[in-house]
Amino acid sequence: MAVKKPQSEGVNLDNFWMPFTANRQYKATPRLLAKAKGMYYEDVEGNSVLDATAGLWCCNAGHSRREISEAVSRQISELDYAPTFQMGHPLPFELAERLADMAPSDLNRVFFTNSGSESADTALKIALAYQRARGHSNRTMLIGRELGYHGTGFGGISVGGMVNNRKAFNGQLLPSVAHLPHTLDMQKNAFSKGLPENGIEKAEALEQLVALHGAENIAAVIVEPMSGSGGVVLPPVGYLKRLREITTKHDILLIFDEVITAFGRMGDAFAAQRWDVTPDMITTAKALTNGAIPMGAVLVSERIYDTCMNAPEDTIEFFHGYTYSGHPVAAAAALASLNIYRDEKLFEHAREMETEWQDAVHSLASHANVIDVRNAGIIAGIQLAPSEKGIGKRGYDVFTRSFYDGVLVRASGDIIAMSPPLILESKHIDQMVSTLERAIKNAL
Ligand SMILES: Cc1ncc(COP(=O)(O)O)c(C=O)c1O
Repeated sequence: MAVKKPQSEGVNLDNFWMPFTANRQYKATPRLLAKAKGMYYEDVEGNSVLDATAGLWCCNAGHSRREISEAVSRQISELDYAPTFQMGHPLPFELAERLADMAPSDLNRVFFTNSGSESADTALKIALAYQRARGHSNRTMLIGRELGYHGTGFGGISVGGMVNNRKAFNGQLLPSVAHLPHTLDMQKNAFSKGLPENGIEKAEALEQLVALHGAENIAAVIVEPMSGSGGVVLPPVGYLKRLREITTKHDILLIFDEVITAFGRMGDAFAAQRWDVTPDMITTAKALTNGAIPMGAVLVSERIYDTCMNAPEDTIEFFHGYTYSGHPVAAAAALASLNIYRDEKLFEHAREMETEWQDAVHSLASHANVIDVRNAGIIAGIQLAPSEKGIGKRGYDVFTRSFYDGVLVRASGDIIAMSPPLILESKHIDQMVSTLERAIKNAL
């Protein structure tokens, strides 16, 4: 059944200043979700909306999982909150051990945060602390990448490469930052299935930055193995390995921001494992708790941790942390989520569905307004030609049409991103693609 609009009956929309939202446009035609179960949302009028976004790349095990809500309610009545500054409680230790077991190589030390933005800023600060602790205090430069997204903290927007997130704060970004070029090349790689073949040479730009600034001044490089928010931008074949070679050669840390890609999105616990490249740190959030409770985690190599411990035993080694680092309720949600991922073999299931997913999303390629389709794991980006009415107008039109036709996708400008929960089956893929097809056909 088609969804009615607008949907604001009984809700005063005035006071909530909504994030990353055209507030006035939204409040004129609001879309309100009321419930969720499995692959589906239900809106305030009781219409079912298939979730092709896992919320916001969060709910990999599907929505409202009983195991998570039971763990959360048990925990909140047993130990609602406990500090982790010079105190502790068992859950974050248990969760850190679980994450260390899943992580590649020696990334077995875990710093807890509350979000992806905090994970990114924490990783950047750990990089600086590590360089200082080992006597390389000049290594302060941080290198990000065009189109990169690392959240909205000042560190994250400084190394990030999405212009709208940066330009309003010009003049107050971190001072010593450089950017690699992005890897999107539609001329050479449009409609690639899986990782694009062309573009490994984009990694060589790092050598140029090293030549320009001096390796002795560079602390770390941070990239998303796959940029989601920047428009589903994939790493060309061999590119991440080359970044690893160059960073290792110059003794520069490599950070993978896996806030979207961790916990199965690429068919493995981490994209680092799927693409067989081991960074020095991995940032996570989102699917860590299946989106149910805010939590993030930075996985850090033992070598970095040990170096940072190089201080008298009674001193605080790293002056950083959050009131809610390792929050008991969030940790309970995370442990329950990891159990579901393991017990239901969801990462394996994602891998099994990959080919069907790829074929289905590429069937949209024949539409005149579709100028690229990109996919990897259970993620896809469908890039539309901008309409004459302006950049982003067609993307927004497709997004709203899909929603009113019962499927939630995400529009980033004229790029439609899909990243459904990993419990998806063929019938869900069919509904997503046929709905999107109709929306593209009828849109601006
Ligand atoms: C790669 C990446 N890093 C960081 C973030 C920021 O996460 P949060 O919104 O939880 O702060 C996001 C959010 O989409 C992300 O995709």
